[in-house]
Amino acid sequence: MTAETSTGLDSAIRVPIELGERSYDVWVGPGVRHCLSQVVPGDAKRVAVVTQAAVADAGITVDPGVEHRVFITDDGEHIKTMGAVEELCREFAQWGLTRRDAVVAVGGGAVTDLAGFTAAVYHRGIRVVYVSTTLLGQIDASVGGKTGVNLPEGKNLVGAFWQPSAVLCDTEALDTLPSEEMRSGLGEMAKYHFIADADLHALGLVERIARCVEIKAEVVAADERESGRRAVLNYGHTLAHALEAHGGYDLRHGEAVAVGLVYAAELAHRAGRIGVDRVAEHRQVVGDYDLSTRLPAGADADALVSLFNRDKKAVDGVTFMLDGPEGIQPVTGLEPALLRETLEAIR
Ligand SMILES: NC(=O)c1ccc[n+]([C@@H]2O[C@H](COP(=O)([O-])OP(=O)(O)OC[C@H]3O[C@@H](n4cnc5c(N)ncnc54)[C@H](O)[C@@H]3O)[C@@H](O)[C@H]2O)c1
Ligand SMILES: [Zn+2]
Repeated sequence: MTAETSTGLDSAIRVPIELGERSYDVWVGPGVRHCLSQVVPGDAKRVAVVTQAAVADAGITVDPGVEHRVFITDDGEHIKTMGAVEELCREFAQWGLTRRDAVVAVGGGAVTDLAGFTAAVYHRGIRVVYVSTTLLGQIDASVGGKTGVNLPEGKNLVGAFWQPSAVLCDTEALDTLPSEEMRSGLGEMAKYHFIADADLHALGLVERIARCVEIKAEVVAADERESGRRAVLNYGHTLAHALEAHGGYDLRHGEAVAVGLVYAAELAHRAGRIGVDRVAEHRQVVGDYDLSTRLPAGADADALVSLFNRDKKAVDGVTFMLDGPEGIQPVTGLEPALLRETLEAIR
């Protein structure tokens, strides 16, 4: 664990993200948002704070320490549109935000994705700081530099790689997070146990969040633009994306990932890559987070198998990220019959 201290952020854990000249720090700890002025770029004269009503109403507000204006977006995933990007850019321009100023996004992944992409394109790119307020945002969406919005044709189809100048993961914000959002983050957290092959249960929540950030950072540093290694971050996601694309199941993203992890383990076992103990470990980790290890009731196995082919990793047929003797690796060529039979096994 890389734990360092600095004035005002003394009790927080610092996780450095090593990306050459685009390197930055992620700070994790209760109340770190109150140190925002210390991480806002020193030469920014103005800051556009982008947030949501639900976040502000929960008392999660910030003071960037320089002249700022707050821009409130609607709630939910549907704010991630090109229309919202244009609206924010126009409001920034009307206010007079310049290319030397900065954006601060305060919220979950929807806000950081939208505000991050807006920052990436406004004036061809201005600096952005994330104050991440959901568990999923803290361990996933705010780290790695992917920003973007959705199109009616699909999620995250328009975006840019744009690294923030700093990220504050305020763990105090999690106190007001609705329980289903917390569960969603926990499903994503379960994934990191297998990417790093580490027992994260031994750590307290703040340390565990920092460790997840560190694991993601290591993967991203090795593969900033997603050519290979970064695909391990999609562990458990092939089934999750199929469940989400099918719709009609009452599952948050991370809950779908949790089932997807168990499915991936069962598949890896049937493909002769891991033993029953390792499958049991997957069930145990997911179960310890109080998340379901089973397919939702009434899930349509045939529909899910055909949706696997539409997953974005499908370049030559379906690719599953599967655990094995050398860790998590892409595996292709699994028979549809095996995919279906394994779905039945986790019903
Ligand atoms: N860029 C990436 O690498 C990356 C990675 C993973 C996910 N994502 C994106 O992240 C998004 C999902 O993020 P999310 O799960 O954080 O959802 P979200 O941002 O929609 O937030 C979930 C809900 O919680 C509310 N909320 C946020 N913080 C709160 C708090 N502290 N107290 C009370 N309410 C609060 C929000 O207003 C919202 O209603 C998706 O759009 C996904 O595509 C991006
Ligand atoms: Zn995910």
